[in-house]
Amino acid sequence: MVSKVVVMQEEDFESWYAAVPAAAKDKGRQVLEEKGCLGCHSTDGTARIGPTFKGLYDSSVTVLTNGKERTVKADENISTGP
Ligand code: HEC
Repeated sequence: MVSKVVVMQEEDFESWYAAVPAAAKDKGRQVLEEKGCLGCHSTDGTARIGPTFKGLYDSSVTVLTNGKERTVKADENISTGP
C-alpha cells in the first residue's frame, strides 16, 4: 500500500486545523454518529471492529475493481471506477 504523509510542525497543524470551519467538522461527525459508523470505527486511532478513520483522509488505498487493482485516494472526490 502506498501512503502519502504530510508532516507538519505541531503549531502549523494546530493553526491549519483551527482554520477548518467548525461546521465542516461537525457535519462529518454528525453523519458518522447518525449512521452508526462509530460503533465500528474510531477517529482517534483506537482499533474497533473496523479500521480507525484516523489518518484515512488523503491516504491512498489499493482496491480491486472488476478484478483489476487500482489505487484510489480517500478524499472528497467520488471514485466510481473506470
Ligand atoms: C458493523 C461494523 C461496521 C459499521 C457499522 C461500519 N463499518 Fe466501515 N468497516 C468495517 C470493517 C470490518 C471494515 C474493514 C473491511 C475490510 O478491510 O475488508 C470497514 C472498512 C471501512 C472503510 C475502509 C477503511 C480503510 O482504512 O480502508 C471505510 C471508509 C468505512 N468502513 C466507512 C464506514 C462508514 C462511513 C460507515 C457508516 C456509514 C461504516 N463504515 C460503518 C465495519 C463497519
